[in-house]
Amino acid sequence: MSATTGSFSLGDTTVSMPVKAGSIGPSVVDISKLYAQTGMFTFDPGFTSTASCESEITYIDGDEGVLLYRGYPIAQLAEHGDFLETCYLLLYGELPTAVQKKDFDYRITRHTMVHEQMARFFQGLRRDAHPMAIMVASVGALSAFYHDSTDISDPRQRMVASFRLIAKMPTLAAMAYKYSIGQPFIYPKNELGYAANFLRMCFAVPTEDYKINPVFARALDRIFILHADHEQNASTSTVRLAGSSGANPFACIAAGVACLWGPAHGGANEAALKMLTEIGTVDNIPKFVARAKDKNDPFRLMGFGHRVYKNYDPRAKIMQQTCHEVLSELGIKDDPLLDVAIELERIALSDEYFIEKKLYPNIDFYSGITLKAMGFPVSMFTVLFAVARTSGWIAQWKEMIEDPGQKIGRPRQLYIGAPQRDYTPLDKR
Ligand code: SDX
Repeated sequence: MSATTGSFSLGDTTVSMPVKAGSIGPSVVDISKLYAQTGMFTFDPGFTSTASCESEITYIDGDEGVLLYRGYPIAQLAEHGDFLETCYLLLYGELPTAVQKKDFDYRITRHTMVHEQMARFFQGLRRDAHPMAIMVASVGALSAFYHDSTDISDPRQRMVASFRLIAKMPTLAAMAYKYSIGQPFIYPKNELGYAANFLRMCFAVPTEDYKINPVFARALDRIFILHADHEQNASTSTVRLAGSSGANPFACIAAGVACLWGPAHGGANEAALKMLTEIGTVDNIPKFVARAKDKNDPFRLMGFGHRVYKNYDPRAKIMQQTCHEVLSELGIKDDPLLDVAIELERIALSDEYFIEKKLYPNIDFYSGITLKAMGFPVSMFTVLFAVARTSGWIAQWKEMIEDPGQKIGRPRQLYIGAPQRDYTPLDKR
């Protein structure tokens, strides 16, 4: 990409740094030599103005509400494609041909079973453990089973590990759900599509045949597409940082699962539904909006706001449309939670506070209502997010590992602690 030079003065020193332009979006000032030239670090907690890497995978324009996977708008992929096609696109950079898609689908499908010993691994966990706790544990445990795909220097092993992770996340997620409700695990079936297989593993019981609802399967597949990747968000950055040390991909993805769990990130879908339930009725909305605006109240409208989107999250619009499709399939005319969500969105989007701070609904605002209507418990919402985001995590991890300039991530700090001082013996304190 093109580069120019930017100069700025620091005290009586003038510093010149390369300015690099990407293909689209903001340019970057390459400060990698700043410390060597000035003895100073940059300071950017939360990385609000920091690009951590070069990437070709996902582009977000927060002001315009644009999200592209390898250049393709999310709305087009959600409308015309399926989730495994999106996985292929994120991994390899191009939409697959019919032959490539058939081969990719076949290979992923035949990695959906987990080692039978994993069933015993679950027995060591409490039945009332949060499914995300089970996912952190079981995804990390995959590195204890698949030793033949942990050598990250071997491109074939990297590919096998990527396929295993994309394929086995739904199986582990369904096992986490079944374990939490005391039902037997349901094995994947190779003739089913990715989302349909997951629905069956979650909701089938051995005593009767399970009928796939095609509207639910299509809706879930689209939800997976919406959640697949999102540039250098907190959990993706966690996966990249873990991977930069050479840790195996299963351990790196487990680290991403752990980070995603937080309510400020992937846990927001669970938190948003709990918030809508707590609000309960449209009449209660003003009270909660007032709390969200009160600086002295830590309450925030969950599912609102975003570090990058200062416009409507393009995924939220598609999520809202999917929500209506699922509710009408169920014959639900007026879901009280949806009524609260739509009225809350209307009030917030016309409120000066939210307008001034550019707070719009994000993907988590409508996903919870949709997943609840499909029969998933609130505790499984972030698990579904992790299933989908594994494709983005592993694509970003692969891009980092294959970058010849890749090195271990090791930020510095502004030290504000005690200057050097001598040890005080115990009897002198
Ligand atoms: C995801 O990064 C990604 O791409 C994430 C994600 C992905 O796909 O990977 O998109 C998925 O995590 C979506 C976000 C889900 N989180 C939530 O819905 C939780 C509620 N939202 C917030 O906590 C918040 O908006 C964040 C965490 C999402 C973004 O926080 P920022 O960018 O650090 O912004 P901030 O906290 O500095 O807020 C800016 C201002 C503050 O007011 P001031 O201090 O400037 O006066 O906006 C206010 C905040 O108080 N604010 C909110 C608010 N979000 C921000 N006020 C009320 N309700 C909210 N939801």
